[in-house]
Amino acid sequence: METPLKNSEGQKIQELCRKYSIYTWSIQQDVDPLAVAKTEGLYYWDYDGRRYLDFTSQLVNVNIGFNHPKVVEAMVEQARKMPFIAPKYAFDKRAELSRLLIEEIAPKNMAKVLFSLAGADANEFALRIAKAYTGREKIFTKYWDYHGSTYGAAMMNGEAIKPSPLPEIGGFIKFFGPFPFHDRSFASAEEASAFYLRDLRNRLIFEGADKVAAIIIEPVTGSNGVIIPPKSFLHGLRSLCDEFGILLVFDEVMMGFGRTGRWFAAEYFDVQPDIITFAKGITCGYVPLGGVLISRKIADYLETNRISCGLTYNAHPMGCAAAIATINVYKEEKILEHTREMAVVLEAELQKIKVKHPSVGDVRSIGLMGGIEIVKNAKTLEPFVPYGITNPGEAMNAFVNAAKLKGVSMFGRGNIAVVAPPLIIKEDELKEALAVVDDALGEVDARME
Ligand SMILES: Cc1ncc(COP(=O)(O)O)c(C=O)c1O
Repeated sequence: METPLKNSEGQKIQELCRKYSIYTWSIQQDVDPLAVAKTEGLYYWDYDGRRYLDFTSQLVNVNIGFNHPKVVEAMVEQARKMPFIAPKYAFDKRAELSRLLIEEIAPKNMAKVLFSLAGADANEFALRIAKAYTGREKIFTKYWDYHGSTYGAAMMNGEAIKPSPLPEIGGFIKFFGPFPFHDRSFASAEEASAFYLRDLRNRLIFEGADKVAAIIIEPVTGSNGVIIPPKSFLHGLRSLCDEFGILLVFDEVMMGFGRTGRWFAAEYFDVQPDIITFAKGITCGYVPLGGVLISRKIADYLETNRISCGLTYNAHPMGCAAAIATINVYKEEKILEHTREMAVVLEAELQKIKVKHPSVGDVRSIGLMGGIEIVKNAKTLEPFVPYGITNPGEAMNAFVNAAKLKGVSMFGRGNIAVVAPPLIIKEDELKEALAVVDDALGEVDARME
């Protein structure tokens, strides 16, 4: 529940938004959207002048913070010069952005990029390309991972109880990967990794590995729990794909563009997928842009085989201009290096929080992506909401609301609170925000068994 608005302008805006527009992922009668008056850097403000530190970078996308003047300037310039040109043309910003991505940013095996508008459609394109290239139909995806809410992407989602569009499309098969905090029966993460790889290999054989086009995963499961696999699991996936001629696709919509302290998680884990999808951090949401990176062999295939899909706004000039400016900000402000430094602080502070609060069963982080997993019982580690449920329960809501009342906004999924600040956050700001989180966890401690 948001705090009631006192300011009448904010109230009017909220009422009109509620009355005439639909809010996604919601039952309309329950929505109570905060009216946001302005944004700047790490913060947004409501119409009562209250300031919130955005501790999840909105939807883990505003990596360079709000309103960066260089990106805004690039957008204004592009809007004046050429706000739109159809995808079939060549133009300067598309040329420069494609070159930057392939020559400087993507893993070395990537040869070309197909620009989309966002994450879900990037994944739809990846599906189409993988099926066309391999001539195979089946797609394997991992439980817990999220890939988007368009029809095809939703078929890939691995949430336990998901509101799937009906009828479901056949040929999408799920498998489990390691979830270290919940794999407590294994002696080590490596043992868990080997188990899940064996299980997946068996599934591939039983489904007919020669019918499988791609294994599509989030290298680190983001919003559904910050699940960080051991490196051996991702290397094992690469080997399985090589063994059976299957394409390995990393959905890096959330991890790409710096979240792990590298351009891509593929680099962090030292694995070369055949396809990488991205969105979010490439423009930090200033304008929508996503894309699909494809390796040389797939690019060669597309030289002589028609790609039979496209959108009016593929390679949109506003998106390309914003992306170049955003990438320049990452480079000039050494944001990846800074993220790696802040990652050490985040990890250490989260550990302190875990030691202090009996309700914190686990903390984990990679780069500036952290998760705090709450439990009802410190001995048995019984969760507050049942395993697999991604809706937050009462304890999580109380925790998140307490932090928000103290000016730190974050979101909880099931039992896991996500901590993913803009990558520009400084050490003192990070520690201050975590002190608020620490304090707000008292709400969870108080609700334990
Ligand atoms: C890993 C991942 N893939 C895909 C998507 C879908 O992206 P979009 O909402 O831009 O369509 C998201 C969104 O959160 C995501 O985190």
